[in-house]
Amino acid sequence: MRKVLFVCLGNICRSPIGEATFNEIARKKGVSETLWADSAGIMGWHVGKKADQRTIKNAAKHHIEITHLGRKLSAKDLDDFDHIVVMDEQNFEDVHKFYYDTKKSPPSAEKLFLIRDFDPTVRGVHDVKDPYYEGEEVFEDVFQTLWRSNEALIEHLIEKHDIQSTEASP
Ligand code: 4NP
Repeated sequence: MRKVLFVCLGNICRSPIGEATFNEIARKKGVSETLWADSAGIMGWHVGKKADQRTIKNAAKHHIEITHLGRKLSAKDLDDFDHIVVMDEQNFEDVHKFYYDTKKSPPSAEKLFLIRDFDPTVRGVHDVKDPYYEGEEVFEDVFQTLWRSNEALIEHLIEKHDIQSTEASP
């Protein structure tokens, strides 16, 4: 099992969408027994809480149910997960510092990276915009960005680790 942890600031908007789209694409491609995602926040403001209602509502439009409850990134996560995937440059800096302070060595580029490194449409700016103070349309934009980035990330992982698909689900 390869484990991917999506991380954003609050763990109620972007990273739960990252987790849910990753797991849905893995299921559709028949690789969900090998690839699995969870999510966490840099801050503990929303620990134990459901995702933002706009996150849940927008995902439901795509027939994806988001049941994740907020949790804070822990030192144990740094060992438990093969990849820690962040949403923006600030998240990257924060997680990099946490990793360095905890383990006294920097994370590899394979361990910690920005999800939009895998976005085929990216031009320059690599951030997934924080939708928390934005309108509902930004949640759809975040969903689309994470969907297409995760399709590319999963293809990369399948190829790199020679993951065999079990029968794809519709
Ligand atoms: P997220 O968005 O990092 O994508 O979950 C935010 C959620 C909550 C807050 C900020 C950003 N907040 O200030 O509570």
